[in-house]
Amino acid sequence: MAVTEQHLSTMVLVIGTGGAGLRAAIELAEAGVDVLAVGKRPKDDAHTALAAGGINAALATMDPQDSWQQHAADTLKESYLLADPRTVRIVTRGAAQGIDDLERYGMEFARETDGRISQRFFGAHKYRRTAFAGDYTGLEIQRTLVRRAEQLGVPVLDGVYITRLLVHDGAVFGAYGFDLLQGRRYVIHADAVILAAGGHTRIWRRTSSRRDENTGDSFRLAVEAGARLRDAELVQFHPSGIIEPENAAGTLVSEAARGEGGILRNALGERFMERYDPERMELSTRDRVALASYTEIKEGRGTAKGGVWLDVSHLPRQTIMTRLPRVYQTLLDLQMLDITREPIEIAPTAHYSMGGVWVRPEDHSTDVRGLYVIGEASSGLHGANRLGGNSLIELLVFGRITGQAAAAYAKALTSQPRSAVAVAQARAEVDDLLAADGPENVRALQRAVRTVMTEHAGVVRDEEGLLAGLAELAAIEKRMADVGVHPDIAGYQDLAHAFDLKSAALAARATLESALERRETRGCHNRSDYPQTDPGLQVNLVWSPTAGVTRESIPPIPEEIAALMGEISTVGKLVE
Ligand code: FUM
Repeated sequence: MAVTEQHLSTMVLVIGTGGAGLRAAIELAEAGVDVLAVGKRPKDDAHTALAAGGINAALATMDPQDSWQQHAADTLKESYLLADPRTVRIVTRGAAQGIDDLERYGMEFARETDGRISQRFFGAHKYRRTAFAGDYTGLEIQRTLVRRAEQLGVPVLDGVYITRLLVHDGAVFGAYGFDLLQGRRYVIHADAVILAAGGHTRIWRRTSSRRDENTGDSFRLAVEAGARLRDAELVQFHPSGIIEPENAAGTLVSEAARGEGGILRNALGERFMERYDPERMELSTRDRVALASYTEIKEGRGTAKGGVWLDVSHLPRQTIMTRLPRVYQTLLDLQMLDITREPIEIAPTAHYSMGGVWVRPEDHSTDVRGLYVIGEASSGLHGANRLGGNSLIELLVFGRITGQAAAAYAKALTSQPRSAVAVAQARAEVDDLLAADGPENVRALQRAVRTVMTEHAGVVRDEEGLLAGLAELAAIEKRMADVGVHPDIAGYQDLAHAFDLKSAALAARATLESALERRETRGCHNRSDYPQTDPGLQVNLVWSPTAGVTRESIPPIPEEIAALMGEISTVGKLVE
């Protein structure tokens, strides 16, 4: 039976309607360029809305000594020298403009009584440079961007799942997808595509992402189009995910809780950060705090449920209500726990993909002509440890730059060849899955991938576990040939899950293979069999399904920035 498809065309297609995608779409619309944004989730509730504690820019409103150079130095140092200095420079220099843009769009930042934007400490920043809106910063940014996009009349299609990028002769010419409710198909033709569909942290069992977020779609879409991934193994585990209830395990307790003076204790009541980073204590870097909690739990000093305690109950009630309102509400909603009186039981949670699609630092173009990738889907800024608050500013800065680059690319095109074969392949892929009636359950296989990643590629890894993970993944990949897909009267979620499973498998393979190759301990990547940092591995690891893992050198850090970086300490690193 012939499939009905809706055909749309635009100059620039933006896939993903979180902060990165919307910021790029706004840039395009402000420049008068035809743009269409599509997202699988409602734009008002995109993943950016979950980002809690803040957004970084060296505004020096609280600490006049701060500068973009110091922000760059902190970012590079805490990346364990794996961030690209060119990307870091672009983001930290452009950060103030990112904040200005938000103010221009009407964003309400927390302010001091004299009107200055307030800035708080976040872990491992030398100065207070994290601007915020309570601990709802991401939500406020998302609302601001949605409002601005609406003012500009940016067309946004919610509830559309993109299954494939359409490519001909190395250039992207659009995307194929379906509507999650009715299953209606879309062929969207475009001169350029900006991919902003998030990372892959949902492929771990305890994660700060919700069910259909960060499922690795960006990785699969880009790789199948001919792009490569960089540093897929570098995944940030946030120290504070809640443990219960099971179906919300991993939900974030913002780092703002530590930034505002929260204290970590083990089950013995010890303030255990004294053992790992006595100088910075709870304000240490995420990788150190996550590893410290992991070690306390593993060595038997954790709680009966396998966590540690984060206590803010000594803080003034007013501080909690104004600076940590979301943490307060979340714990009441999910556990009926009043954090003004009781400590929170937490454990590390998969939080952020610091690697992602390989992009050029100057404009986030990729190996595929006309394809740009931004936000958590991309790579280059964070290296082996992301500073909290850097991702929100990254999407503001690169949303603007990539919007401009995609506009210039689209305007310069004199023709855009399309391929009927590419469209037919995309169509057949959906048809085949809809016809699949095998015995394997998609959701069960998704869960199996999450179990593999949790058991073999968590906070601490080793060769034996990673190899076992790859073997288990291969078995899952085999079973994927026999899935059954059954959309029902409620919608086409089962089809989406089948594509999510493909994405999860690809992202898991890239992560495991890269983690195996990184035979050292660096930042978030703890190898118990290689507990030292290897200077020879101060490289990025680039992955593709055909070439496997290759090494890419990183340009030197400019002298002006290097002079501001302290020594990279290994204190608090692998203590097994
Ligand atoms: O803990 C947090 O508020 C998270 C912030 C971030 O990941 O940037």
